[in-house]
Amino acid sequence: MTALQSIAALAAAAGIEPTLATASALAPLAEERRRCRGARDLDAYSRLVERDPTELAALLRLVTVPETWAYRYPASFEWLRGFIAARPGRPFRALSVPCATGTEPLTIAAAALSCGLAPALVTVLAIDASPEAIEAATEARFGSLAVRGGLPPWSAPWLSTDGSGRLHADAVTCACVEFRLGAAPEALRVLPAASFDAVFCRNLAIYLADAPRRAIGEELDRVLAPDGALFLGHAERPSHFGLERGFTGSTPEDPSTFAFMRRAARAVPEAAPIPTLPTKLAHAPRTAPPAPRAGGNHPAPAPAPRTALDEARAAADRGHLAHALELAERLRSGGDARIELLELLGTIHMALGNDARAEEVLRQAVYLDPANSEALIQLGVLAERRGDAAMSARYRARAAGGRA
Ligand SMILES: C[S@@+](CC[C@H](N)C(=O)[O-])C[C@H]1O[C@@H](n2cnc3c(N)ncnc32)[C@H](O)[C@@H]1O
Repeated sequence: MTALQSIAALAAAAGIEPTLATASALAPLAEERRRCRGARDLDAYSRLVERDPTELAALLRLVTVPETWAYRYPASFEWLRGFIAARPGRPFRALSVPCATGTEPLTIAAAALSCGLAPALVTVLAIDASPEAIEAATEARFGSLAVRGGLPPWSAPWLSTDGSGRLHADAVTCACVEFRLGAAPEALRVLPAASFDAVFCRNLAIYLADAPRRAIGEELDRVLAPDGALFLGHAERPSHFGLERGFTGSTPEDPSTFAFMRRAARAVPEAAPIPTLPTKLAHAPRTAPPAPRAGGNHPAPAPAPRTALDEARAAADRGHLAHALELAERLRSGGDARIELLELLGTIHMALGNDARAEEVLRQAVYLDPANSEALIQLGVLAERRGDAAMSARYRARAAGGRA
């Protein structure tokens, strides 16, 4: 057995998805770690991985990159706000696993606060297996890629950007989130049953083999309240967690919410009108009494003027992919070569199953911005889909170099 084959066997035994746990897929990642640890050659590095579980964990963290950003999959958060607003006065408890560097749980907290819930009623437990990611999250250290494509008007003051476009999380928002180091499924087993109204488990299943996915699925099912909502990543479905019998899409007419509910609970009220909050509540202490629902005398912030790119993105977020594609292609044929447009086109083509076209535009994005981790991750997914695990790993390794 070669050094890479024994590393691949260890990765497979640790539950990594089979196409990612191969010698060729792991070669660039093992090489990166070998250099980092100063091992003489791959044989020496493979012996290190064998005897040191923390090194194996460090290698696997290059496979499951802590790639994340605020307000990722906007339609999920818009739907979440409707879900929260439909349960007035009830506390809102959410789980975000994996939370990576923290922007996902903070967006969840911001969404709940923006609906008028008192901070004391909002709790988000955020778990990730990466010590570095949890440390960055706890210290609210956000990279320049923590915001992509902007934040919605309702996010302020809970989440905002500073003058240089960096993410800023309000102290009240941060206080709603507890970060915890831990790996699923073990870290979920200690949580009480039915204890969360929303469970976010986005972009983890894509990296895992069937058995760990199912073990995690069992825990997600157990900790989610009977009328709770389960949020997955764009390429994930309840069936990946063995939950296809119990769950169904929350909004079949808009699959881009990536939100699922128990079949028995689909009668949950449709999105209720969402109040806006007086700005001064932004600094209410965590123990404040329930915030009054804001009346009509607190107008929502004026929406920013919508550009053609915003229109295309909004259409894509609503799941109107053909229309989104038409708008985006029109911009592109007019000579618009902005990276955001190329990323959007890539995402739309991927959702439509036009993988070759998606790859073409995403490669253009990476040509213009070689460290564009979103495009690199998408290219990794596309390479994986066409069975090129080695290429997929190379894209992931490159993406890991420019994480959010
Ligand atoms: C791509 S990020 C997903 C972050 C976020 N949910 C999102 O979609 O934006 C994947 C994260 O999974 C974490 N991870 C990998 N295996 C895990 C496990 N078994 N339990 C918890 N976190 C894990 C990694 O450390 C990484 O931060």
